[in-house]
Order: sequence, then structure tokens, then C-alpha cells
Amino acid sequence: MTSHRFLPMGPMKGAIRVPGDKSISHRALMFAGLAMGRSRISGLLEGEDVLATAAAMRQFGAQIAREGDGNWVVDGVGVGSLLQPRQALEMGNSGTSTRLLMGLVASHAISATFVGDASLSGRPMKRVIDPLSHMGASIEASSGGTLPLMLRGASPAVPITYRLPVASAQVKSAVLLAGLNTPGITRVIEPVPTRDHTERMLKGFGARLEVGEENGETVIAIHGEADLKPMDVTVPGDPSSAAFFMVAASIVPGSDLTILNVGLNPTRAGLLAVLRQMGADIEEISPREIGGEPVADLRVRHAPLTGIAVDPAIVPAMIDEFPVLFVAAALASGTTRTSGLEELRVKESDRLAAMAAALASVGAQVEEHEDGLTIHGTGGEPLRGSTEAAVRSLLDHRIAMSMAIAGLASTGGVEIDDIAPIATSFPTFTSLLGEASA
Ligand code: S3P
Repeated sequence: MTSHRFLPMGPMKGAIRVPGDKSISHRALMFAGLAMGRSRISGLLEGEDVLATAAAMRQFGAQIAREGDGNWVVDGVGVGSLLQPRQALEMGNSGTSTRLLMGLVASHAISATFVGDASLSGRPMKRVIDPLSHMGASIEASSGGTLPLMLRGASPAVPITYRLPVASAQVKSAVLLAGLNTPGITRVIEPVPTRDHTERMLKGFGARLEVGEENGETVIAIHGEADLKPMDVTVPGDPSSAAFFMVAASIVPGSDLTILNVGLNPTRAGLLAVLRQMGADIEEISPREIGGEPVADLRVRHAPLTGIAVDPAIVPAMIDEFPVLFVAAALASGTTRTSGLEELRVKESDRLAAMAAALASVGAQVEEHEDGLTIHGTGGEPLRGSTEAAVRSLLDHRIAMSMAIAGLASTGGVEIDDIAPIATSFPTFTSLLGEASA
């Protein structure tokens, strides 16, 4: 455990670059690892979660080498040709690695054991076990449907049509990845849209994938026994990492910060809309497309924020940004109400309970409900900060970073019991904070 006290800081100024998108980095390594031939990836996030995916893809037979900062070369093994891993797959803290790779193994004639840290070992896997079992995979999970688990793939697997019972891009992607090596057409019906990086990137790698609409729901069809062709991928900056700086610059008086190269896929950009609704001053500069994803630079200036009722329809487009939105709400004037957030209870931690406890301990006024938080803001006055016990980050990178941002807008600073989890998604977070406020 590495504790750290985040002290109040001066205005955020200048221009910073956040690391590559985590979701896109995982997928780039997986799909390049499945293609026939050499792909190059630039801007790859070199966080622990993504490195867990790289290590697993190596065990499946892909050759993966780092050439320099964010630049990686991958020689794929080909769909259908995954090798039997020799050791258990160490998934660390990464739900995305686990669920997507379970999908991959499900339609190959191999078996794999998935293990993870205490946080990951408490997270529900039944949501992927169910559809993958229908496709023919056999899975032995720990009681409660959690890791460690052993998955034996089926070859050939059986194509299914699966209607997502939870709005989850990980479940959607697991089924689509299983469909890659399944004869026929595998379909996923998505009542509520979730991040679509898998669909975009698989098309780029040459998979036959169609996205349509039926009765107001999205239907994604993937043609199996695909051959993926290699491709060069440029990974845009992670909007979920940029989120911490968007909130920091919004709440620290005098700030005028530009965050370069931020991915703004509409299935991810909910926080931008919600912060603007609260009165944030965020300008999109030079909107462009990089690697099939919309990107812009974001200029964020300090502005007084006002509490709102967040429309639950926007939840999937900012699912990972709620912890830091709660911090913005704690500094806003008036009350912010959120609902429809049940999924936050099964992330790296129970993020509703964790943020309610953390914010209350630094002096914010918070009420926790089954499916959301209600927060009464200070109207811009700094929070008290942590006085006695340190805030618990609970193996959750986003709790640690959100409360670090709360520390910037506090009187006494915020002490966090363990900042090590930050390295799973944003290893340069603390140094960038120093850079932006220097
Ligand atoms: C992710 C999907 C989301 C998100 C996670 C990354 C992905 O999870 O919270 O950080 O890359 O597909 P769910 O699919 O469980 O909502």
C-alpha cells in the first residue's frame, strides 16, 4: 500500500496529453493478436490492465513487442489458431481483459484458467458465463460465479442471438469475440447503446460485421470463421482519464487547461455534456478523426458549477466517470441527483458506497441510494479535506484519482490510503497533475 496526501493546488494551466484509451488499447492488442500478419499500434496505454491483456495474448501465441513509448508491434496467430496457454491467465484488476478474453477462448479448442486480484475476484462473471455456455463453452467458476474460473472452449461453437440483459460493452464484446471463430452468424441485441469500439475496430481489421436497428434496439451481427487482416491502429487519448482533469480545471479557480487529443466517441462523451449542463466552460478545439474514432482537444476554464438531476439515459455514455462527477457535484452550488447507477456497485469497487464514504469523510454532504447518490454542493467553497482516517481506495483506480481531485479543492488536502491502483489505467496521473499546476 502506498499512501499519498493530495494537497490543494493552484490553477491548472497549459496543455497536457493523457495516455491512450484503455478500452481501445485492450481491443487493439487482442485484434492485432488475432490477425494474420503484422500490426503496429501507437499511443497504446501502458497501464497494468492493458499489460495483462498483452501477456495473455502472448500465451495464446501472438508475438508482441514494445518498440518505444506507446509504440507496439504485434504478429498475430490467426483466428482459430490460439495456442493452449501454459499457465493461468493473470488478469490482475482488469475486468475488460477477463470478460473479452473469456469470449475469445469460448470458441477455440483450448482451455484457460483466469485469476485476478481481490477486487476482480469479487466481480460478477455470470453475465458472460451465461451466453458463452449457450455457445457451447464449459465453465467452472468459483461459487457466486466469480474468479478464479476455468473455461473450456467449444470447437465448433454454436452461433446464438443474445439480447443483453445488462448494458455492458464487455458482455457484448465477449459474445462478438466468441462469434469470430463460430460458424455462421452470431448476433447481439443491445437495447441500450454502450461503447462501440469493438464494432468499429473489428470492421477495420476486416471482420464482416453489420450494425442495424430493429424495434429501436441495436442489432450487431458478426460472420464467423473470420480472417482478420493486420492493421495499424492509433489509439486516441482516454476520455475517462481526461475526465479527472476536466473536473480539476472546472473546480480550481483561475484554471485554463488544454487536454490534447481526447477521444470523443459519442458512446463515451456523456461527462462533457453533463459538465456543460452544470455550467462548465469546455471548448472543443480542432475536432478530427483518428483511427476511426472522433477526437478533439479540450480547453477547460474554471467556471462555477450548479447541481442538476442527471438524466439516467446518459449513464452508459459516462459509466466510468461518475466517481469524478460526484466530486464536481460536491463543489457545485445546489443539489445534484443521480439515478440508474446500479452497475456502479459491481465495478472495481462498489463505487456508490465507496464515493459516498470517501466524500462524506472529507466534509461533503452526500446521501446514498440504491441506484445513485444525491450530493449537496458547497457552492465552490473548498471541502474540509481528510482529518483523521485516510480515504480508502479499495483497489479502485477511479476512487483514488477522483479523491485526489477532491484534494485539490480542499482546505487540508485529501489523504488516500493506497494510490497503487492508479497504475492500472493512468500511470502518469500524479506527474501530470504536478505538470498542469506548476
Ligand atoms: C469497458 C466497458 C465498461 C467500462 C469498463 C470498460 C470496455 O464496463 O466500465 O471500464 O472496455 O468494454 P461494462 O461493460 O461492465 O459496463
